[in-house]
Amino acid sequence: MSEKKIITKYVKTDFDLLTNSDKTLVLKAKSMLKSAYAPYSGFLVGASLLLENGKIISGNNQENVAYPSGLCAERVAIYYAGAQFPNLKIKKIAISAISKKFNFTDIVSPCGSCRQAIAEYEIKQEDNIKILLHHSNDNIIIVNSVSDLLPLMFKSKDLKNF
Ligand code: THU
Repeated sequence: MSEKKIITKYVKTDFDLLTNSDKTLVLKAKSMLKSAYAPYSGFLVGASLLLENGKIISGNNQENVAYPSGLCAERVAIYYAGAQFPNLKIKKIAISAISKKFNFTDIVSPCGSCRQAIAEYEIKQEDNIKILLHHSNDNIIIVNSVSDLLPLMFKSKDLKNF
């Protein structure tokens, strides 16, 4: 038996200290909060992706009365990018969240399914996707790759035929 350690790296910073490109992406994610469709949870999430050609693709959470039929903001955005721009790399994704019902202090991090979806595109494009997490108090957490959020992830090479 052996015990291994996994080291996850992240940067905690503030909106004002971001590069202009990152600020633009975060502001776009934040602007998507107002059109999120979240009548059941009241929890609004916006996500914006920067593609390698400079285009920004955005999405927000879309809920459904049959709860599992809804979709998170990150996957709304990333699947749209995958459908419309399959050959363009995704450079970064910014995510912002707010609740209509309560205040929270921790920065919201993508759910497990969204992490796995982001991982799929990192592997497909053979390049990392920087993730910026934004809180309405303008605290920011940055990771350089989804592997910092999803270590030991399930990969296509685990399915031996791929
Ligand atoms: N949600 C997201 O959009 N992204 C996440 O990573 C976590 C959760 C949404 C799903 C649902 O509409 C609401 O937040 C509450 O879970």
